[in-house]
Amino acid sequence: MKTAVVTGGASGIGLAIAQRLRSDGFHVAALDRNPAADDDSAYRADVTDPDSIAEALGAVREKLGPVTVLVNAAGVDGFKRFQNIDFAEWQRVIEVNLHGVFHTIQAVLPDMIEAGWGRIVNISSSSAQSGQPFMSHYVSSKSAVNGLTKSLALELGPSGITVNAVPPGFIDTPMLRRSEARRLLGGTVEDHIQRTPVRRVGKPEDIAATCAFLISDEAGYITGQIIGVNGGRNT
Ligand SMILES: NC(=O)c1ccc[n+]([C@@H]2O[C@H](COP(=O)([O-])OP(=O)(O)OC[C@H]3O[C@@H](n4cnc5c(N)ncnc54)[C@H](O)[C@@H]3O)[C@@H](O)[C@H]2O)c1
Repeated sequence: MKTAVVTGGASGIGLAIAQRLRSDGFHVAALDRNPAADDDSAYRADVTDPDSIAEALGAVREKLGPVTVLVNAAGVDGFKRFQNIDFAEWQRVIEVNLHGVFHTIQAVLPDMIEAGWGRIVNISSSSAQSGQPFMSHYVSSKSAVNGLTKSLALELGPSGITVNAVPPGFIDTPMLRRSEARRLLGGTVEDHIQRTPVRRVGKPEDIAATCAFLISDEAGYITGQIIGVNGGRNT
């Protein structure tokens, strides 16, 4: 049985990915800054802190063995006019969304190289395809994750490791609903559904299904790709 680590696994997209991989037969460890109290696969880790990742992974390896699947779903958003973003705020978004991905990949890579097999899926964002006003820090971080994905795919392919990104668009999670409540979406979720080609909001399970495929043996020839899941909002 393979062991998968999902960051941001306590909420929204990460939670759905953790549940899907568990039902697909993986051992799953859900790493999160705010782990769910009632989830025995939950481990506390802050992806910006390499020591906390190392500590959580030590416990995961002891219980579940080497980690050969990593899904990076932990993330934070930010909405502010560019002139008003102070540097600390800019750094915080980049630190979680980009540096967090750096830290977790570095931490699990030895297991994958040793196994001669690995799967890495990075959850970026459709906003990196289109750009998004008032989210320049967020879009920058997610664009960098797409670039990192492509470079690592080239570097790690010979070691049997695939690296892909899934940029979600408009997925019904606590993050999206918080944005709606703060009137940051430019309309309600319902308004946006009318502007979405498939006429519905995305579900975390839509992202989980794509990740499950990319992680499967069948997807071994897919690497370095940015696989959009957005109901046709970005093409
Ligand atoms: N919901 C959408 O429409 C949407 C669209 C594009 C991209 N995304 C991306 O999908 C991912 C998941 O988003 P979501 O909508 O499920 O959000 P969410 O807020 O519901 O879940 C994010 C999770 O990440 C965790 N997290 C945040 N910072 C962390 C840190 N430093 N260390 C460890 N865990 C941390 C949070 O505790 C939370 O459990 C994010 O990377 C987000 O940027 C979401």
